[in-house]
Amino acid sequence: MAVAGRPHINMRQLAKGRKRAFEASACAKAILAGEHAAVYGMPAVCIPVRSLRARAGVDSAKSGVTIEAPDLGLAGEPGAPGFPGGLEHLAAILRETSGALGIGFDRLKLRVESSIPPARGLGSGAAVSVACARALAGFAGLDLPPETASAIAFEIEKIHHGNPSGVDNATVAFEKAVHFRKGSPPRFVDPGRLTFVLADSGPAPPTASMVSLARGKLGAPGEWILSSFEEIAELAVKALVSGDARALGRLMDRNQMLLSAVGVSTPALDSLCAVAREAGALGAKLTGAGGGGYMIACVMDEDAQAVARALTASGAQGVLATGLGGESVQ
Ligand code: MEV
Repeated sequence: MAVAGRPHINMRQLAKGRKRAFEASACAKAILAGEHAAVYGMPAVCIPVRSLRARAGVDSAKSGVTIEAPDLGLAGEPGAPGFPGGLEHLAAILRETSGALGIGFDRLKLRVESSIPPARGLGSGAAVSVACARALAGFAGLDLPPETASAIAFEIEKIHHGNPSGVDNATVAFEKAVHFRKGSPPRFVDPGRLTFVLADSGPAPPTASMVSLARGKLGAPGEWILSSFEEIAELAVKALVSGDARALGRLMDRNQMLLSAVGVSTPALDSLCAVAREAGALGAKLTGAGGGGYMIACVMDEDAQAVARALTASGAQGVLATGLGGESVQ
């Protein structure tokens, strides 16, 4: 496995081996422009959502490796009979982290909890990977550079999503707003002061199936719609940096039209976007792979509560407001 930014391993540090309980976390993410097109090398604009986090803790054990996910009510020893299938991705993170750091893990208990709703477009998978990798490295007495955490999470995304762009793991591991293009190092940007409201439209199919659905519209070489996605994302990053909420809102609306044309929006997502706009949002779109899951609206700070209330009244779950560039509404 080629993992960028492998940390320098201090052998003395490792020999002493901190091997003490270690906890770490990683944030959620929301894409403002360019999802799906990102898979085909177009730019995407993504922000961290710091108020939702995955948390991992590693503690020493007398023998063997145990993985626990109390949120899922699951626990088991990887490789042992009866190890729950629902924990396989955590076992894969353990293997990837071990390979990336060049060290074996034994006699430990890995426990994972998350306030990020899984499979809803908020980067839950990448956040769990990054939190676990950080906790495992910390347990071994190592600092984990964000490049390495991102590369480990990318390997896990490949297992689950087939052909990920890398935008989720980059945003989550660096916890920064990113102007992302697959195959190039992520460019981090300083966002202006902006406020967003997010809301959940309900369960979504796996990212891999949404990416394969979009392939029909985006996968052909020279597909015209890709250049429209590209133009919107390039303008969106400028609006993000300058804190131009009106321009960003208009661009998010345009992006949503393209995502609908690709077939990854749903009536529930369209309806939540309409509710947000009617309540004063400057623009709204689905975020992530679509087919369900979260939408995101760009709002003036003073309208955030009204938009959040309208979304809740319309039946949306998990409504939250988040700020950037001053973190006003976290
Ligand atoms: C998922 O958060 C974003 C997609 O564009 C997939 C990817 O970029 O890997 C749908």
